[in-house]
Amino acid sequence: MNYTSLTAKTRAALDALAPLQSILEETEWLRHSNDLSVCDFSLGNPHEEPIPAFVDALRRHVEPGNLWWYTYKMNEPESRGVVCKSLRRWRGVNFEEEDIFLTNGSTAALNVVLNVIVEHGDEVIFISPPWFQYEGMIISAGGTPVRVRANMTTFDLDLNAISGALTRRTRAIIVNSPHNPTGKIYSPQTLKALASMLTEASGRGGRPVYLISDEAYSRIIFDGRTYYSPTAFYPWSFLVYTYGKVLLTPGQRIGFIALPPEMPDRGDMRRALYGFQMLAGWAFPNALLQHALADLDPISIDIGRLQRRRDRLVSALREIGYETNMPEGTFYVIVRSPVAADLAFVKTLSGYNIFCIPGSVMDIPGYFRLSLTANDGMVERALPGFDAALQEARRGRAR
Ligand SMILES: Cc1ncc(COP(=O)(O)O)c(C=O)c1O
Repeated sequence: MNYTSLTAKTRAALDALAPLQSILEETEWLRHSNDLSVCDFSLGNPHEEPIPAFVDALRRHVEPGNLWWYTYKMNEPESRGVVCKSLRRWRGVNFEEEDIFLTNGSTAALNVVLNVIVEHGDEVIFISPPWFQYEGMIISAGGTPVRVRANMTTFDLDLNAISGALTRRTRAIIVNSPHNPTGKIYSPQTLKALASMLTEASGRGGRPVYLISDEAYSRIIFDGRTYYSPTAFYPWSFLVYTYGKVLLTPGQRIGFIALPPEMPDRGDMRRALYGFQMLAGWAFPNALLQHALADLDPISIDIGRLQRRRDRLVSALREIGYETNMPEGTFYVIVRSPVAADLAFVKTLSGYNIFCIPGSVMDIPGYFRLSLTANDGMVERALPGFDAALQEARRGRAR
């Protein structure tokens, strides 16, 4: 792209974001994003009423309880207490309240962490296929993104490739489990091996290589599996979480950063994170969400229902003739496009009122991604369209 008045860093960050911006701005689905007559599998947006307990909680807390209800809110002690208690129970780790930083979603949390730890020229490893914003965020924090491909057969971390990418300039690695878009949950064995690799690299470089654990989907887990947090295996870790997935309310922005109790130098890190929450544009959740947090924290969308939708969609698509993964967690199913040009096939699908994300915008050309946040009606209505589009592609190939 050609932006004449912008700095090289801004241009590089925008270039990294361009695939996402292009689908947001240029593709057909946006026109239909609030249209219930189409089958929207694109982003992880809800297509059903919000959970009634969520709405009730906001209603209950909207009336001011005192004169200071809507003053500036930061890392409020009550909110920290809710998260700390919940994490202790959930993870069995003795988190401390002072190590919890309330943010407006995990996007803000990732941005704050990167800005705190990255110096100009530092390398930050991220796993590909990646979440859309990692690369641009690393650049905008002054770092150099280093892309490392996952093992595309098992969807596991490719530890040899990570080992090869670790240099003296490596400052951090971003790990996302369960992984968007492959749905993979990394095993304790993989995470232990990663931790010892990072410990060694830290020793070689004379400073810690941090692990940033993006756990956005850590409560969206299927088949009774257990979730293992990468932060449980490595002390120089940041746990980054959002409530936007488990509540399926991504427009009401609340999440957090948590430091594991084993992290050395937590005092300095606490001051830095808090300061950068302010500098990053007040990266705290709004007052109402903080007041409601004790009621929001235990709520979840119906994971059993989401799993049934996964099963229905995956088995129907396979029956039609598509090749798909079977996600262990997250909202996403990835499907092999019947033609190499995934963008063209996504356009074909849109002709049948089916909207989804082409794999080439997340570095998996030849695939497309479906979000299970489409409702059950959309899944059923889309199946004949998936069938017809596949036949159309096969006829095109035969010509
Ligand atoms: C892997 C991953 N990380 C972070 C985010 C951002 O979450 P939020 O919108 O709650 O900040 C998303 C959202 O799609 C995601 O998929």
